[in-house]
Amino acid sequence: MSYLETACNAARLAGEMILSQVSTGIIAEKKSSNFDVVTEIDKRSEQMIRDFILEAHPEHFLLGEEESFAAEKPLSQVLQDAQDVPFLWIVDPIDGTANFIHGIPGFTISIALACNGEIILGVVYDPCRDELFWAEKGKGSFCNDKKISISEAEKAVDCMIATGFVSTSAFREVNIASMDSIGKEFRSIRVLGSAALHLAYVACGRLGAFWQYGLSVWDIAAGVLLVKEAGGTVTNTKGNVYSLSDQNIIASNSKVHSTVLNCL
Ligand code: IPD
Ligand code: CA
Ligand code: CA
Repeated sequence: MSYLETACNAARLAGEMILSQVSTGIIAEKKSSNFDVVTEIDKRSEQMIRDFILEAHPEHFLLGEEESFAAEKPLSQVLQDAQDVPFLWIVDPIDGTANFIHGIPGFTISIALACNGEIILGVVYDPCRDELFWAEKGKGSFCNDKKISISEAEKAVDCMIATGFVSTSAFREVNIASMDSIGKEFRSIRVLGSAALHLAYVACGRLGAFWQYGLSVWDIAAGVLLVKEAGGTVTNTKGNVYSLSDQNIIASNSKVHSTVLNCL
């Protein structure tokens, strides 16, 4: 099985299971803060994906959000070590858990593969709309069987932009504050509840841009490649090229990138 087939099959398998559990009286547990929630289904999804990927590629490593939360080693160290890992899968088993818990569409499975710290494959699956976004380095981005590309809009006023609410209070405040200036430039702001979905939507041109503070690598690793391979730009909020340890990012169709940057 190719790496791409592994990622797509794992995402679809988990997506089907997650969808079957919507509105079944899911219990949300608090994680790192009152805003950070997790369910048994997040953990089950991660286990399914882990088993599927490591059975196909037993010599590879996998960094999953839920296992990493329970792990001893700090994430910064894991990401530093990733530079020397030939194949590291980075998995968010449900991106948009809050939507999932409340029965709101807009949750995804995000799976990326990094080779010595460079993302070479990204898959974001939205089971509610049965949209599978995927990209391989140097080969373009796709939604199901169709090639996708970023929006052609030249001006911010002609673009929709999205952001999200992070679970850490300090990052929330900065993010909410930044909405003020962004809201004056763009057509409108959306908060769809999944960073991975936001990036997929930048890649296919539905959104002109996305920005957010306080993200984690599993939220965005796959989506970053989708955006780049679709012709877009991804930087941190200082304007530097995205690296795996960046938490504050801007992704755009390139043309409106500087407008976002200047607003922050
Ligand atoms: C969250 C979503 C949300 C973003 C948060 C993330 P989770 O991921 O991506 O859109 O605003 O920062 O933590 O907790 O649902 O996997
Ligand atoms: Ca996430
Ligand atoms: Ca998650």
